[in-house]
Amino acid sequence: MSDPRSKDVSATLAYEPSAQLGVGDLAISELEKRYVNEVLDSNRLSYGPFMRRFEQEFAALHGCRFGVMSNSGTSSLQVALQALKERHGWADGDEVIVPAVTFVATANIVLHNRMTPVFVDVLADTYNIDPAGIEAKIGPRTRAIVPVHLFGLPADMDPILELARAHDLKVIEDSCETMFASYRGRPVGSFGDVACFSTYVAHFLVTGVGGLGTTNDGELAVAMRSLINHGRDAIYLSIDDDETDDPERLFMIADKRFSFVSLGHSFRVTELEAALGYAQLENREEIIRRRRDNARYLIERLSHLEEAIQLPVVPEDREHAFMLFPVVVRQGSRDELIAFLERNLIETRYMMPLLSQPIYRELFGDLEPEYPVAAHIDRNGFYIGCHQGFGERELDYIAGKFGEFYRAG
Ligand SMILES: Cc1ncc(COP(=O)(O)O)c(C=O)c1O
Repeated sequence: MSDPRSKDVSATLAYEPSAQLGVGDLAISELEKRYVNEVLDSNRLSYGPFMRRFEQEFAALHGCRFGVMSNSGTSSLQVALQALKERHGWADGDEVIVPAVTFVATANIVLHNRMTPVFVDVLADTYNIDPAGIEAKIGPRTRAIVPVHLFGLPADMDPILELARAHDLKVIEDSCETMFASYRGRPVGSFGDVACFSTYVAHFLVTGVGGLGTTNDGELAVAMRSLINHGRDAIYLSIDDDETDDPERLFMIADKRFSFVSLGHSFRVTELEAALGYAQLENREEIIRRRRDNARYLIERLSHLEEAIQLPVVPEDREHAFMLFPVVVRQGSRDELIAFLERNLIETRYMMPLLSQPIYRELFGDLEPEYPVAAHIDRNGFYIGCHQGFGERELDYIAGKFGEFYRAG
């Protein structure tokens, strides 16, 4: 890429996008088509060879021995917490710590498990949970912490793990927005008891719907796979599980095949989604490299506006995977800026407001005064895309439009 600082603004503005510059990108490759066709030719859609390979390779890339695919990141989070709750005998109403800025699913899964989310404010520069705010929220009923690696940036895991150890808490990494990024040399997904990822539209790997749980705890992986599959007895979680010549074992399987041992869900996914994900794994380095390069370029191109907008920061001890490009407005009106960008075909989304969601207000009342950073982000934050589908032309255009807005203002 050329030096972003030496850009001529008039050249930037010569390009006009023909379609909205969205927050996500999808370009189905020949390899994806080939693998999907292999699935169709195999006449097998249920859990099979593609999902097994995808789960194993994905888990290994995140420092884990076991991977379990489901139909969404939310489903993976939901069964991860349920499996831990059942194993440890946690009671309804026990507490789980979550950040005050995150996608709504992080807190929803706590409520769906009949537990209580306890919010902790986030850091004003990285937008991740503030480890210094966690200890004050730990009480006799606290059972787990769910740090979120938001927008592609790993949370500050060492102090979180230290607190978890000191207070005997489980850690579920919500890594739905971050893959293939490391913190102090270790990949996301390798820190907690379990981590959950999403392969929904606009993420790094896009399988349509899809989620993955990764863990080094074999029993937890089996419990999660069972919960995804209606809570079925673990003896029969795949149609291959009855391939045995041992008549006694065969009868045992037949006897348990339709036995449900916990209150599970229909969260399964098919070989078609797994084939898409597995094919995209081959491109992961390119996807991440392009996103990082794009974000770096955009930061440089926008750096002259730093008094007006807060740009993403990348602490030295971690990598940013840049699923998204967060911005917090310091000067001028966030809503006018968003309206201007949208009019100019640049898609924006609010920056993961949680506490102000109508349903959270209904459930918890007005929590925002207790979470000043979250409230500030809620009022002034938004994000745009910086994905691999953008090149210099699109990024110059985006940067040019920010400049135009502030010049006009
Ligand atoms: C932080 C976070 N957690 C959970 C999810 C849920 O993932 P899914 O949409 O696959 O259910 C998302 C979705 O983007 C997310 O951003």
